[in-house]
Amino acid sequence: MIKDSVRDAINAQMNREFYSSSLYLAMSAYFESMNLKGFSAWMQVQAKEELAHGMKFFHYLVEQGTRVSVTGIEAPRVDWETPLAAFEHALGHEEKVTAHIHQLMDLAMREKDFATAGFLGWFVSEQVEEEAKAGEIVFKMKLASAEKGAVLLYLLDHELGKRGKTA
Ligand code: FEO
Repeated sequence: MIKDSVRDAINAQMNREFYSSSLYLAMSAYFESMNLKGFSAWMQVQAKEELAHGMKFFHYLVEQGTRVSVTGIEAPRVDWETPLAAFEHALGHEEKVTAHIHQLMDLAMREKDFATAGFLGWFVSEQVEEEAKAGEIVFKMKLASAEKGAVLLYLLDHELGKRGKTA
């Protein structure tokens, strides 16, 4: 049986994942307003992933025989100064999520809740990927605005990357 402290912390993280989903959907709407369809599509995929993360927590609590508490989530920010600012926000947000997941893992270990620790392992790995994805985009956007020729470099990089996918 899951302890109340762990249950409450998992439940809070579930609601934070749903918040992440709405934040990324708001970013998608921001990019749509700028006709940046690719950026918008990327954020929509991200929003769906966050919904799936929230549902993983939902189902875990159900499997543990506890009552899930879906609380209201705060409204996300809806505007940013630049596309780069939106992605910097996304990266900073993922870093905060990572900290929450690590706190959860720490709690599970302290409570000797090995089932929850095992369940959280997936999220620990996922956060490495989440930060890397957002970090790469922030890096590329900064380089594209700072370095002459960087955009051509990216086009060439994209072209060369196709070889690995078709080989
Ligand atoms: Fe659910 Fe982006 O972490």
